[in-house]
Amino acid sequence: MKFFIDTANLEQIKEAKDLGILDGVTTNPSLMAKEGIQGAEAIKNHYKTICEIVDGDISAEVLSTTYEEMIKEGDELAAIHPNIVVKIPMIKDGIKALKYFSDKGIKTNCTLIFSPGQALLAAKAGATYVSPFLGRLDDISTDGLNLIQEIRLIFDNYMYETEILAASIRHSMHIIDCAKIGADVITSPLPPILSLLKHPLTDSGLAQFVADSQKLS
Ligand code: E4P
Repeated sequence: MKFFIDTANLEQIKEAKDLGILDGVTTNPSLMAKEGIQGAEAIKNHYKTICEIVDGDISAEVLSTTYEEMIKEGDELAAIHPNIVVKIPMIKDGIKALKYFSDKGIKTNCTLIFSPGQALLAAKAGATYVSPFLGRLDDISTDGLNLIQEIRLIFDNYMYETEILAASIRHSMHIIDCAKIGADVITSPLPPILSLLKHPLTDSGLAQFVADSQKLS
């Protein structure tokens, strides 16, 4: 399973990269706004910087919602760096844009997936990734993991190459559950990734080993 970090924060991206387990980055307009990035030039420069830090797929989301504008914007984003993945919302014009980029050999990530039918359409249009939003479904008392399971079944039935990128991860158990049901990728903020490291028996066991190692010298 691939690990992407879901942030536009450069320090957190560097910290995850330094762990040696990072395969890519996802961003969205909300995450970019959180970092105070404003204006077309600043946005492009920020993506360029991320691409220089991480050698992997970097999802950059279009801000527009019409086919013509998404095409123009996506072409400009893709020109920033070969690792840019154009992130397109799951809307009618978005499906057309996915097909356009797929035909051009430009990678895409179809975002805001909340149903198996949406994932199926995105795969048919040639999306590189679909992003089902696990946490946001859980937030409204719906089983987000079940959606990922359904998409896994459909994609396996027809051997679609589109990868399932589990998004909107809230905690480390989401990551474990996604690994168990066969998501291809998870994109997560840094804290859930770091909390995978933790176990109290590891901490107490190491404290004991360190204490006992003193007796050896
Ligand atoms: C990733 O591509 C999504 O934009 C992100 O995971 C959404 O997460 P949120 O529901 O925590 O905003």
